[in-house]
Amino acid sequence: MKAIKASIGLILVALLNLAHASEAGVHLDKVKNNLCDKASLQRGASLYMNYCAGCHSLQYVRFKDLAKDLGIVDKKGNVLEKLVNDNLNFIGDKVTAPILVATPQEEAMKWFGVAPPDLSLVGRSRGKDWLYTYLRTFYVDPKRPWGVNNLTFPDVGMPHILLRLQGEQVPVYETQTMEDEEGKPYQKQVISHLELKTPGLLSKEEYDKAMTDLVNFLDYVGEPHKLERKRLGVWVLLFLVVFTLFAYLLKREYWKDVH
Ligand code: HEC
Repeated sequence: MKAIKASIGLILVALLNLAHASEAGVHLDKVKNNLCDKASLQRGASLYMNYCAGCHSLQYVRFKDLAKDLGIVDKKGNVLEKLVNDNLNFIGDKVTAPILVATPQEEAMKWFGVAPPDLSLVGRSRGKDWLYTYLRTFYVDPKRPWGVNNLTFPDVGMPHILLRLQGEQVPVYETQTMEDEEGKPYQKQVISHLELKTPGLLSKEEYDKAMTDLVNFLDYVGEPHKLERKRLGVWVLLFLVVFTLFAYLLKREYWKDVH
């Protein structure tokens, strides 16, 4: 049963990846995260709890499961509850509780116009490269309510929460020649790239690394059993290959005398 589930999962993920790949629009930077790197996952979780959990819930994740997977346990494998409560659980719920937000949804709607979505599955719905690019492409735009816009998510309703860490980016424009409906060329100003105007607390490399950790964490959250599934998937495929061979041989044997 587990094997069947795993292979269905594999096919779905492949289809999802295809869907992402064919999505037109902005260029996405590739994130080099590693789900086996527990220190990176812990740093990502800490960033998340400090900067994101005030608005976004992770309703399918419980503090306790998170702590286990991230290795916040003693030698016997028991979750170190005090460490979790001091470093990750700022909401004050029990460690067995799911990670919800303190901000009521109606309030958030009033402030942002849209309720901040739950991020448990965002690693899967948007993809990790999208997330990595999104978190690094906020730029100053006085026309927007929060004074910022985003290259990856135009007219986003979220403020640039990590501004203090990243610093302030401004757009650099270039002129591109486009064609209107009748095929007549016209010139348009488009953003070619972003430039750091005011540096933040982190250098560019440090910020990129921090975002790799944060995306690593969201990637893990989207699918806590990903590593296990990938490991199983290889065996499922091997099994299918061997099975096909035997099925073919059997068919030949049965049909040998039928003509
Ligand atoms: C002050 C509240 C607030 C905080 C803090 C915040 N966000 Fe958001 N976020 C929002 C809102 C509101 C939206 C919806 C934007 C929209 O739809 O225009 C959003 C949207 C997003 C999206 C897009 C979701 C989707 O698929 O449409 C992602 C990803 C995201 N936030 C990640 C983060 C991360 C990571 C952090 C922490 C670094 C964070 N957010 C902190 C308010 C917040």
